[in-house]
Order: sequence, then structure tokens, then C-alpha cells
Amino acid sequence: TYVVTEACIKCKYTDCVDVCPVDCFREGPNFLVIDPDECIDCTLCEPECPVGAIFRDDDLPEGQEEFQEINARLARVWPPIIQKKPAPSDADAWAEVKDKRGLLEE
Ligand code: SF4
Ligand code: F3S
Repeated sequence: TYVVTEACIKCKYTDCVDVCPVDCFREGPNFLVIDPDECIDCTLCEPECPVGAIFRDDDLPEGQEEFQEINARLARVWPPIIQKKPAPSDADAWAEVKDKRGLLEE
């Protein structure tokens, strides 16, 4: 399955949503997750993310491993998002920021 990682936090560009053939993205206040029970590993979303936040679960960068659990857990409670929408107005300012884990709103 594919996993959304830290770079998405406070960026939430949602380009990934439009290409997913099975509508498995779920939306929280400042982050998106992928429902691991629905993702069919089609790979289409990975290159769409402007901040490179999406990885295959067996190819997660060092330090991003916990996002597999975060995606699985929040996918059970967050609602589906099936269409791209405008990013937060300050998304670009957060695109290069590291260590955003503590800013994730559940
Ligand atoms: Fe959707 Fe494909 Fe991305 Fe999985 S890999 S979340 S099925 S676009
Ligand atoms: Fe997040 Fe990238 Fe999608 S910033 S909402 S994973 S396009």
C-alpha cells in the first residue's frame, strides 16, 4: 500500500486525490491519509504530490515509518476526499519545512 508522510502536513495540495482510481484518500484538518485496505498500489498518486509526500510502504524514508500506522489509524475515522480542492493559503510556506510531525491535527 502507499502511505502519505510528513511533508503533506499543512501543505495538503490534494493533487493526489484526482488520480486515485479507487478513491482511497481520507481527509483530516491539515493532512491526508491513504486507506491501506482500499489502495491497489497503482502508483499513480506518488508523482503527483508537489512535495513528494507519498511512498510505498516498503520504501518509506528513514524516520517516516510511523506514518504507516498513522495512515491506517486515521483512515478509519476521517471522511473520504474524492476531488482536488484549493490548498491552504500558506501551503507553499510550509513546503520546505522539516519536522512537522508535531503539527499534525487529528
Ligand atoms: Fe490511490 Fe493508486 Fe495512490 Fe493507492 S497508489 S492511493 S490506489 S492512486
Ligand atoms: Fe498531501 Fe501531496 Fe496529496 S501534499 S494532499 S500528499 S498532493
